[in-house]
Amino acid sequence: MGKEVRIGTRVVRSARALPPGEGVPVAPPLVQSVAFDYRSAAAQDEVFGNERSGYVYGRYGTPTTAALEIALSELEGTAAATCFASGMAAIAAYADACAVASGGRIVAQEDIYGQVRALFERWIRERGAKIVFVHATDPAKVEAALREAPTSLLYVEAVSNPLLRITDIAVLAKLAHANGATLAVDATFASPVLLRPAELGADVVIQSLTKYVNGHGDVMAGSVAGSVEVAKAMRDRTILDGAYLPPHEAWLCIRGMRTLELRVRRQCESAHRVARHLEQHPKIARVRYPGLPDHPQHTLAKRQFDALQLAASATTLGDLFSEVLYPAISSHRRVAPEERARLGINEGTLRLSVGIEDPDDILADLDGALARV
Ligand SMILES: Cc1ncc(COP(=O)(O)O)c(C=O)c1O
Repeated sequence: MGKEVRIGTRVVRSARALPPGEGVPVAPPLVQSVAFDYRSAAAQDEVFGNERSGYVYGRYGTPTTAALEIALSELEGTAAATCFASGMAAIAAYADACAVASGGRIVAQEDIYGQVRALFERWIRERGAKIVFVHATDPAKVEAALREAPTSLLYVEAVSNPLLRITDIAVLAKLAHANGATLAVDATFASPVLLRPAELGADVVIQSLTKYVNGHGDVMAGSVAGSVEVAKAMRDRTILDGAYLPPHEAWLCIRGMRTLELRVRRQCESAHRVARHLEQHPKIARVRYPGLPDHPQHTLAKRQFDALQLAASATTLGDLFSEVLYPAISSHRRVAPEERARLGINEGTLRLSVGIEDPDDILADLDGALARV
């Protein structure tokens, strides 16, 4: 830009790009730009028309979000991935595109994250969506539900929220495919470190990146990983429904993801210790932890987590810090109390997400809280 333009123009137009220089950054550039300049309407037209790769506008894709998408597709072992502004946005976009929008039927796990269940129930009420709920840890029940009517989507959680029920992905993939359905797995609780459902036959893998992948409690984000066709359908959703993941959030997710394996390893070790400890605790009726060989009754009263000093009472999980949640008032608030009770989410159920604090401090915190009950 020459000196001929005035100061009012120079401040607006200067410093658009970084000056050239040697050295490749070790962290990905944060391209915090909504629009991209093509200097020619013809070139921009080609990008809009998908004849040429490039970036045009924030909802269509951003380089930083694309870097995260490539990383996620590599972690999940899928051809592509698309990022959304939250896990809920990812789930809504995929379930709608795969089934509901075209009148397709969904067979869904009954004890999924309460807000997803509430969303599906709202679609049933408001849109006449064909969605049925099944006990997904029993393949015979899933098969029967799939056989009842032509089904577009089988939707499950790899580890259910909050009861930590484990679904058999390979078995469910076979059942879904044998009945002409797609299998989508929400693998948020496992994270790609512990489980990659695509390797077991799942067609689509959904993550609330808000949880373990970012892991620092400072980003809302979600992803849908699957085929190139799924990615195209998801891009159509981000463009028209508008819930694409902005670049700064994507950048933070990439940064958080760097320590995912370290965090999850530590959290699993500590959670195992916590589960074993609580199993012996006289005030604990039942511990639900998939790593334990036996599963005695587990009941905690609402007051218990109020007494914890270390664990934050927070409606999230998978962060650096320990978090405890009372599903009846938060994640499953919209699920009717009778249905919650039927699923096994009772008034004493607490969900504990173990962080990376010193495990001895976590145990002391729990003991201190339980002593006050
Ligand atoms: C298993 C599971 N899936 C999806 C979500 C929704 O993700 P988000 O809160 O990022 O919208 C949650 C949130 O708690 C969850 O636990």
